[in-house]
Amino acid sequence: MGFDIQNRRYTGSKQKLVKWIRGIITKKCDNVNSFCDLFAGTGVVTNALINDFNTFYINDFLYSNFIIYNAFFSSDSYSEEKLFVLKRQIETIDPRNVKSNYVSKNFGGKFFSKNDSLVIGEIRELLENEKKTDRINFREFCILLSSLIYSFDRCANTVGHYDAYIKKPILKDTFVFELINPVITNQKEKKFFISCKDSNQFVREIQPDVVYIDPPYSSRQYSRFYHVIENIAEWKKPKLYGTALKPAPENMSDYCTVKAIDAFRELVADLHCKYIVASYNNTYDSKSNSSKNKMELEDMKKILDLKGHTTIFDINHKAFNAGKTDLKNHKELLFLTKVGEHDE
Ligand SMILES: C[S@@+](CC[C@H](N)C(=O)[O-])C[C@H]1O[C@@H](n2cnc3c(N)ncnc32)[C@H](O)[C@@H]1O
Repeated sequence: MGFDIQNRRYTGSKQKLVKWIRGIITKKCDNVNSFCDLFAGTGVVTNALINDFNTFYINDFLYSNFIIYNAFFSSDSYSEEKLFVLKRQIETIDPRNVKSNYVSKNFGGKFFSKNDSLVIGEIRELLENEKKTDRINFREFCILLSSLIYSFDRCANTVGHYDAYIKKPILKDTFVFELINPVITNQKEKKFFISCKDSNQFVREIQPDVVYIDPPYSSRQYSRFYHVIENIAEWKKPKLYGTALKPAPENMSDYCTVKAIDAFRELVADLHCKYIVASYNNTYDSKSNSSKNKMELEDMKKILDLKGHTTIFDINHKAFNAGKTDLKNHKELLFLTKVGEHDE
């Protein structure tokens, strides 16, 4: 029971490809102890490699992802007993006794049913109070907040991301609060450095053996796609705009713009590591402009070649494209650069 790390809907999640990615990293990278998941998204790539490295650096600029990594991977301890007591308290919340709140006012009848939105807002407020009174530590707070995120993602009235809600009446209340299953359960032998920074800044602070790079390659901004999750995670209750009820833009990625190639060039130049592993998929023949790649295969290869010998692996894979385009022969690629090794 409970949610495992991969049990969420996330555009570009590598869950279906992690075995293939892990196989290449473990076979081709020698003498390595530390792994960095630089644009970690769901964190499923780190999860797949959890037994292969001792030290992990996990980064994404979305705060909700930072909370989720702390929940699943932090080596800080937590009390299962406390979590179960709070889960039981949460399960007694009855929407008929709940006052209207930020979630119900903004998202009720839109992204969630009216009753579900009342309960989600009430739980988020309860977690904030528990955190303020120090009855739970930061790891416990992250586990509970991630559990709320995974639980409401199940009942959200969307196609998977929150760019829009489905414009039909919501007939049923379907929210059920379930706890997540942490990957790291009170053990100290592995080290985790979890961060919420712009990747180009983060790489200047670390020297891992292997760096895995999986940036967005199209103009779709993750902070806009997952704004409801980010909003409920941050709980700053900002003013919202438009039919999709988005806050003012933040965490807009250069990788989704014409600056992508320059950003990637700068990032790679600043890397201090033995191996660079980068994902890429070819969506060139897509009819939708927003899913067109900002960086071409050749651009990436040229930039990586400056650092060392680069090999490209590929596998056929069905892409995310919200059902609009039929990408034939869609290929998922993986670059592997052995830093410092150059062809004669
Ligand atoms: C393609 S997704 C990564 C998916 C991930 N490999 C997985 O399997 O779930 C790209 C991620 O990069 C993050 N991101 C985009 N631009 C960033 C930046 N400049 N710095 C840090 N994170 C960024 C997004 O929030 C998103 O989660």
